[in-house]
Amino acid sequence: MCGIIGFKGQGKVTDQLVEGLKRMEYRGYDSWGVAALTKNGIFLEKKVGAIGEGKLSRPPADATMGIAHTRWATHGGVTQENAHPHASSDGRFVVAQNGIVENYLELKAMLTKVGYQFKTPTDTEVIVHLIHHRLKQASSFREAVRQAFLKLAGRNTIIVLDQQTKSIVAVRNGSPLVLGHLPKGVLLASDTLPLAGKAETVTYIDDMQLVVVDGDVSFYDVKTGRTLHPKRQKLDLVEQKVDKEGYDHFMLKEIVEQQHTVVEAASYSEKELVPLVAALKHARNIYTIGSGTASYAAGQVAYFLRTIALLPAQELRAYEVDSYLPFFDSHDLLIVVSQSGETADTLEAVRKAQIERVKIASIVNMIGSTLSRISDYPYFSRSGPEICVVSTKAYTAQIVWGYLLAMTYAGRFELAQKRIHALAKQLKTYFQPKTFTTIKKLIPELEKDQHLFVLGKGQHFYTGFESALKLKETVYMHCESFSAGELKHGVITLIKKGTPVFGILGDDQYKNDLLVALAEVRARGAKTIGIAAENNEFFDLHVPTPDGGDLDVITKVVPCQLLSYFLAVHLGNNPDKPRNLAKSVTVK
Ligand code: M6R
Repeated sequence: MCGIIGFKGQGKVTDQLVEGLKRMEYRGYDSWGVAALTKNGIFLEKKVGAIGEGKLSRPPADATMGIAHTRWATHGGVTQENAHPHASSDGRFVVAQNGIVENYLELKAMLTKVGYQFKTPTDTEVIVHLIHHRLKQASSFREAVRQAFLKLAGRNTIIVLDQQTKSIVAVRNGSPLVLGHLPKGVLLASDTLPLAGKAETVTYIDDMQLVVVDGDVSFYDVKTGRTLHPKRQKLDLVEQKVDKEGYDHFMLKEIVEQQHTVVEAASYSEKELVPLVAALKHARNIYTIGSGTASYAAGQVAYFLRTIALLPAQELRAYEVDSYLPFFDSHDLLIVVSQSGETADTLEAVRKAQIERVKIASIVNMIGSTLSRISDYPYFSRSGPEICVVSTKAYTAQIVWGYLLAMTYAGRFELAQKRIHALAKQLKTYFQPKTFTTIKKLIPELEKDQHLFVLGKGQHFYTGFESALKLKETVYMHCESFSAGELKHGVITLIKKGTPVFGILGDDQYKNDLLVALAEVRARGAKTIGIAAENNEFFDLHVPTPDGGDLDVITKVVPCQLLSYFLAVHLGNNPDKPRNLAKSVTVK
């Protein structure tokens, strides 16, 4: 969801803030704002739209510290007024927020009663007035922020810049916050990306912790107000350019990068996997879990554990975990899949499982994320920053890691590595202009359709779901995936003349089921599109893809990623920033 930045240190403050925002723009991108403390008070500028060049109209040269925010709107439309930071009525301080104040109506009613007037429908303005209200009695500015924060319900992280005390006060609950220690100064951010290359050490702010940056940096427990001394940690994150590197969009760049990222995800030694392999051996129940694309990757990991390691792993959706809780206990293992490691639904499921003493393994892309820090067995997909809101390379990396894990359990680590390297070569050969031309040929066949269906089965059950999700996210088209086995149980009523139906076929025991299903929909007028190594008489159109063997799920999802990309661009959509979506879903 939204991205928060705070800075105190050397260099031009507004430049540092805008640079930080650009690295976090994927978190929310409908509007943005910057506030900086100057000799003459607080400079504040807010803009609607993408950060782009991040040009401010009159950036102050004398600012000493500041805060900034990139927004994914929840309460109140996308307007300059609703953008953060929000200023207090007396102009003393400004507030930016990441989260949702669930009791904001109640608080608003109370504040209105005592005389506050609201200029916006945002829940953030409630926080501003609440701090102001508390200031009347609190012993310090920090105390006012702390007391106000305790009144907020929901997952919220806030950052406040105060003119009078010349300080930044930030509080975390739910949405992430990390403080980078710079050679001269500090940089606070919602994730580690803006810190890479700048901070060698970081302090991860935990839930219900408050940090004050003034002449010094100090930490407090929000509930008690007591001073804390959290550990500084080394930030093992190489600075990576957040750059399209000549591609029109991050999505295409990240799709093509998969020829390398699949290998990076498998760059664990057998020894490094041993602790988790042992945990798998001892587990009574093994669950995999995630949200959205990560839940499909979790499903695929469970599939590999069942079919390769012969372990009865079961996939759960993070937001549907509750009914399983009575059966969880300390003998169970939960493998959690997430790109960001900050997804609210996923983290909530993990916390609930931890109460039941379930052991947590995770495969996460973002270094330093909450999920990896609370895991018993943290692993990283090592794909580099995934900037496009739509997940591509993180998905395939998570799957490759799951494959390596299952193969290692089955005593076939070396063979897995060989196959993953062979897959990388296949992808390299596949990402050629010729492939892009073939995929683009599908555009006229699909651009006017309202409904599109995908059929998969067995290993391609999840490939179908993920392919359908890519199309929904980028093309805004209704696209559903079903197991070929589901077709005759009701779904077939949806087929009429010209309905496009994709069939994802591997060279496996399910191929025939898929062909029969395609024949059946075709007999009812559907236009069939086969995603398969070989053409077939039941395909009206064929998208040739390499036979990926054990990793066919990857060679088959890639053309669907490419199709989603090219179709979106053709329709004038920005696939990097799909409408309404945010990359890191830190609120529920
Ligand atoms: O960061 P996570 O992997 O935990 O995110 C989970 C989902 O929100 C995410 O995969 C979402 O479905 C993406 N938009 C997929 O492209």
